[in-house]
Amino acid sequence: MRLQRFLARSGVASRRGSEDLMTAGRVRVNGEVVRELGSRVDPLVDVVEVDGRVVTLASTPVYIVLNKPAGYVTTMNDPQGRPTVADIVPRDPAGLFPVGRLDLETTGLLLFTTDGDLAHRLLHPRYHVEKVYHARVQGTPSPEDLDTLAAGVKLEDGMTAPARVRLLDPGPPASVEIAIREGRKRQVRRMFLAVEHAVISLHRESFGPIRLGDLAAGAHRALGSEEVAALWRAAGSDV
Ligand code: URA
Repeated sequence: MRLQRFLARSGVASRRGSEDLMTAGRVRVNGEVVRELGSRVDPLVDVVEVDGRVVTLASTPVYIVLNKPAGYVTTMNDPQGRPTVADIVPRDPAGLFPVGRLDLETTGLLLFTTDGDLAHRLLHPRYHVEKVYHARVQGTPSPEDLDTLAAGVKLEDGMTAPARVRLLDPGPPASVEIAIREGRKRQVRRMFLAVEHAVISLHRESFGPIRLGDLAAGAHRALGSEEVAALWRAAGSDV
């Protein structure tokens, strides 16, 4: 298998992160530094090391869903010492990392896995995995505003792809369900700002086939095997 896939599957880093480790010269195969991204390894024969530590394929990948509370940074390690999601998910296994990000103040469903390959696919724009958010926004968006959000709004990094949008409660402040298939930085907040209804609070309800259900804020649970299989299907592959 390709070396970056091996590294991602072993839980060392995401696929992208694994490529960075390789190009930085931190990966050795049978004692030789390998920077070439196309390189292949035989997991049964070759000895792979990262920073001098032998790496093996994680035997059973772990999949966890967290109901992220507000005020936690989505990173496993914050140099500024702020509270991070690593404080509220299990310490083991090593190599558990979040699939994408939620903003500091965003709450709700955040997936974690040791399976870098799946994470990479879920985040890749090609697979268009749908993410459903509930947003509380200032005022009450008009039917035209909702149509604009659904059709695509112009942001500084380009038009947004079509979204599903539904007014849950006119408020004010209104409550709106929005389902997007992209994952740009602060996308939902910027979309609502573009129609002049600033987001007051934002909560992710689902990620592809995975729902939060009645998981309490700050609580987490392991995904069931059906959920894992559904995620792989959403990521364009059967297992
Ligand atoms: N969109 C946002 O604006 N913020 C998030 O945290 C997730 C999606």
